[in-house]
Amino acid sequence: MSYSATKLQVEAFQKEHDELGTKLNLGKEVLWLTQEECIKAGPNVEETIELIRQALEAHGKKEYEMPAKIGIHPFSDVFFHAMPAYVPNNLACGMKWIECFPRNPSEYDLPQTTGLLILNDILTGIPIAVMDSAWLTAMRTPAVTALAAEALHPDAKTFGMFGCGVQGIGHIRYITKTLKNLEKIFIYDVNDKSMENLISEVSEEVSVPIVKASGPEELVKSCEVISSATIILLGPLKVVKKEWVRKGQTILPCDLNTFWEPEICRMADKYIVDSIDEHKLFENMGYFPDGLADITCETGEVIAGLHAGRTNENELIVCSNIGISVSDVIMGKAILDRAFEMGLGRKVPL
Ligand SMILES: NC(=O)c1ccc[n+]([C@@H]2O[C@H](COP(=O)([O-])OP(=O)(O)OC[C@H]3O[C@@H](n4cnc5c(N)ncnc54)[C@H](O)[C@@H]3O)[C@@H](O)[C@H]2O)c1
Repeated sequence: MSYSATKLQVEAFQKEHDELGTKLNLGKEVLWLTQEECIKAGPNVEETIELIRQALEAHGKKEYEMPAKIGIHPFSDVFFHAMPAYVPNNLACGMKWIECFPRNPSEYDLPQTTGLLILNDILTGIPIAVMDSAWLTAMRTPAVTALAAEALHPDAKTFGMFGCGVQGIGHIRYITKTLKNLEKIFIYDVNDKSMENLISEVSEEVSVPIVKASGPEELVKSCEVISSATIILLGPLKVVKKEWVRKGQTILPCDLNTFWEPEICRMADKYIVDSIDEHKLFENMGYFPDGLADITCETGEVIAGLHAGRTNENELIVCSNIGISVSDVIMGKAILDRAFEMGLGRKVPL
């Protein structure tokens, strides 16, 4: 994108700045929002899908600035990521600081994903809000999968989910909003309690029958569209074997290359990723030891209608979405706007 804002954009930034000035003592304080307040002020599932559609479209049209994540790695199996983004047309600008510690649930009884989001005033750069980012991450990630599924496989009757934790639960909630013909959902998790918990969490909202698969092979062979949100590890676990995968399926991993045999991306007729820069960065960090497969295009380009998605029913498509911060700042901005309207949060001096 161009680094010079247009006249119209600057006018919008000025208007936004003036409005913020009626709500905050700019430069002297920020609004602090707890997770509970984010949930109260936050968009619901349908609203989140629409916000993330805007985020992906902005990404597809290159109407954003978003450098690939930089990170620190105190242990070989963990990361902290700094995820800045600027989406001028949504007046969204800020940075998510998020961690993924896969051993947290088993060793410390803590979530594997936690973090904070900082939002800034575009006109002056000053920080305006700090909020929990675990909840918005839990909301925006399945929205990306749901939108990609809608674009790539809208008539699917079967959906499968690997991993039944925070993301797995979110995925089942979201997928039924975009795949309207679903007749059966298969789930699989190494932990039976997680599967039971997912079923009880979504049972009142989701009318499509949910079946616990006997194992990964049954799930893969039973489903047209499949997602995975399990664990991210440097070396792939290769749980799903290439022999189980067939033409016509759509595979939507959220957990990088961990769960699937790397050959599956190479076998795919289309390998679509949410961000080429991000995937290359992870490759440089060693996450794709056999190298990245050839990338067809970015998810946002498909959502924005700039690149064809599925062009025939026999294509095997892998669409890997590892998370882009244009989604986070747009979600954060929506939460902040509603928090101001609802009088939520506390003003903390800088
Ligand atoms: N792409 C994105 O934008 C994005 C965003 C947030 C989280 N994530 C990733 O999604 C994954 C899940 O996150 P979460 O917050 O739901 O975590 P979580 O701990 O709540 O859930 C993970 C689930 O995966 C299960 N699991 C682990 N290994 C498994 C295996 N080998 N087979 C089957 N199930 C297995 C666990 O038992 C657990 O129920 C993580 O890898 C996280 O980094 C991706």
